[in-house]
Amino acid sequence: MLNKKIILGVTGSISAYKAAELIRLLKKRGADVQVVMTKSAKEFISPITLQALSGKPVLENMWEPTEGNGMEHINQSRKSDLILVVPASANFIAKLAQGLADDLLSNICLARNCPILIAPSMNKNMWENSSTQRNISLVTQDGVNISGPENGEQACGEEGMGRLINEKMLLLDINKSLNYPILKNKNILISCGATFEKIDDARAITNLSSGKMGLRIADEAYALGANVTIIYGQTEKLPPSGINCIYAPNHSLMNKYVKENAKNNDIFISVAAISDYIPKTISGKLKKGNNKFSLEFQQSSDILLETASEFNNLFCVGFSAESENIIKNAQAKLKNKNLDMIVANSINESMGQNSAEIYIIDKNEVIHIPKKGKEELASNILQHIYKLENKRGSTHEHIN
Ligand SMILES: Cc1cc2nc3c(=O)[nH]c(=O)nc-3n(C[C@H](O)[C@H](O)[C@H](O)COP(=O)(O)O)c2cc1C
Repeated sequence: MLNKKIILGVTGSISAYKAAELIRLLKKRGADVQVVMTKSAKEFISPITLQALSGKPVLENMWEPTEGNGMEHINQSRKSDLILVVPASANFIAKLAQGLADDLLSNICLARNCPILIAPSMNKNMWENSSTQRNISLVTQDGVNISGPENGEQACGEEGMGRLINEKMLLLDINKSLNYPILKNKNILISCGATFEKIDDARAITNLSSGKMGLRIADEAYALGANVTIIYGQTEKLPPSGINCIYAPNHSLMNKYVKENAKNNDIFISVAAISDYIPKTISGKLKKGNNKFSLEFQQSSDILLETASEFNNLFCVGFSAESENIIKNAQAKLKNKNLDMIVANSINESMGQNSAEIYIIDKNEVIHIPKKGKEELASNILQHIYKLENKRGSTHEHIN
């Protein structure tokens, strides 16, 4: 979102106050936000609050003289990368569907030459009303992106569909609208997090993976238009709905779900830290007594290697966390597992961290990416996958 010019339209919904937090989140991500309010929106939240947060006077009145040609609706539309309407009232959606232009915000929307994303928010009966549904369908046909609404408790005391979408999902959808959807219609499977294996009925063995890298890749792939499925073990907070999430806490379930889903996907990114050795499980609970005890481990199967050899058309990406000879070891894995690409990093500097230094390695090149936040790394990794997968696709077409 860095340096993106976003018009944030706020309309007369009870959730208009949530626009304040949204401005903060957009600004934190480097966006330049210009708020435009409808007359009704000002009944719900004061323009001065939104001015203070966005750092710019709020626009509302079409007839107020401005500098230059005085055509603020055209000028604002020309300058923007994205128009957001959050929250979008039933009334505003109806106006958008009909192409009405009787205030500044509706004029800006009609004069747009950039993407538009609206987040409806209203009482459940208003949302379910056939005229609202008809308007939603009309604006969708006109290329308007819709985020939400979601189900839940409503300000009016009722429960149902119509609540403003949660902010995490909204941010993903905003990213999706801002980005050129290079992964549109691609099905991407991502494994992430740590698995844990039982030792006895009370204890388990696991590893230090946080799942952060896999989750950031899932978010970014979604933002680039892909249909994303994650198979996750132990991780931090999961992505919101929109990304299909399947829980696989141990090697056996990871193996099952990865292979079940591999056939429906174009790309598999294996980020999960899956147990290489599985303890021989003891039934009941190990008793305390001896000073020492030993566990017997058995090597587990290599899910990535098997998946890459079983699903020939799947574009397979591995991750290699190493403590030494980072590039050499990763290149050996790329070859031995017959992968299309591998991402190598240093175990101590990346595991559980929010940033890392990585090497993106394929059959022809090694690209060094200096230390960056995992969000940015996710973007670098997916851009490279896109480049390689496209090349592979055109080679296939050429051969056929
Ligand atoms: C207390 C109150 C809460 C309202 N909440 C909503 C709402 O959440 N969603 C909605 O679509 N309309 C809501 N309305 C109705 C709109 O404010 C009304 O339709 C208004 O004309 C919308 O104007 P606008 O689309 O120009 O902003 C509410 C009205 C009142 C009085």
